[in-house]
Amino acid sequence: MMHLLTMADLQPEEITSLIVEAESFAKGAVWQPERSVYVSNLFFEPSTRTKCSFEMAERKLGLEVIQFEASASSALKGESLYDTVKTMESIGVDALVIRHPEDQYYDELKETCGISILNAGDGCGHHPTQSLLDLMTIKQEFGRFTGLKVAIVGDFRHSRVAHSNADALRRLGAEVVFSGPPEWFDENSPYEPIDRAIRTADVIMLLRIQHERHERKYRITREEYHRRYGLTPERERRMKPGSIIMHPAPVNRDVEIAGGLVECPRSRIFKQMENGVYVRMAVLKRSLSQIKGGHNVEVFAK
Ligand code: CP
Repeated sequence: MMHLLTMADLQPEEITSLIVEAESFAKGAVWQPERSVYVSNLFFEPSTRTKCSFEMAERKLGLEVIQFEASASSALKGESLYDTVKTMESIGVDALVIRHPEDQYYDELKETCGISILNAGDGCGHHPTQSLLDLMTIKQEFGRFTGLKVAIVGDFRHSRVAHSNADALRRLGAEVVFSGPPEWFDENSPYEPIDRAIRTADVIMLLRIQHERHERKYRITREEYHRRYGLTPERERRMKPGSIIMHPAPVNRDVEIAGGLVECPRSRIFKQMENGVYVRMAVLKRSLSQIKGGHNVEVFAK
C-alpha cells in the first residue's frame, strides 16, 4: 500500500523526486492509468484549497471521482471512519484522500485497509501535501534548501502544516526558526522575535490562528495580534532582499498579514495554491502506480 500520511514517510530523495514530477506536470506532462481508477475525497473538516485541488488533480489524471460529502453521509448516523473507509474499499474505490479532526486518525487504517490513503490533514498533526507544495514553491524560488533560513510565524503548536514543514525543511538542510506568540511554540524549538526573523529569513511562512483547535480562547484583538506579530507593510519593507512571503491559507487579512501584502511582489501565496494541483498529481501517481495489481501507464510529454 502506498499511503502518504506524514512527511516522515518520505526520504529526502523521494521528496525531490515528487517535486521533479510535479514540475513535469506543471510543464504539461500527462499520465493516465490504463484502466478506470476510482478515488474519493473524504473531508470531515472544512476545506477549499486541499479538497478542490485534489479534485482538480484527480480530473487532470483522468480518475473517476466518487463524490462524498461528510455532512450528507452515514457518518451523521454514527458510522465510524473505519467503517466508512472499509465501505469505500468494498465498493471498489482504489484510493482515499482523507481530512479528519483527529490526530493520527490513520493509525487504525494503515494496516487494515487494502487501499491507499493520502492524508489531507489530521487534527494538529500533519498535512504532507501542503508541505510538498510549499517545498516546491521554495525550490522554484531558490533552487535549493540547504543554507536557507525559514521563519514560521504564528500558531505553530496547532498547525499541522508547520509540523510537516519543520520536519521536512530541516531534513533537507534548511534552518527553521519560529516566531510569534511564545505560548504557541514547542519549548525545544528555536525562537526568534518577529523583527529579527523578518530581517534575516529567506522565507517568511505565516500561519493562520487556529482558533478551532484552541482549548482556551486566545484573548487578543485582531489589531493587537497584527501589531505585535503580523506582517505589516512597515515590516515587509525591512525583509531581507530577495526573500519571499508564504502562507498556506486561508488568510486572515490584516491579522497575520496586511491585506495589501497578500498579492505583493514578494508574496507566493497564490503560487503555492497553483503548485498544489501539480504536487497532488505527483502524489496520486505515486500511490496509484503501486496499488495492488498495478496499472499499465504511459507518460506522454506534450
Ligand atoms: N491550506 C489548506 O489546507 O487550505 P484548506 O483548509 O482550504 O484546504
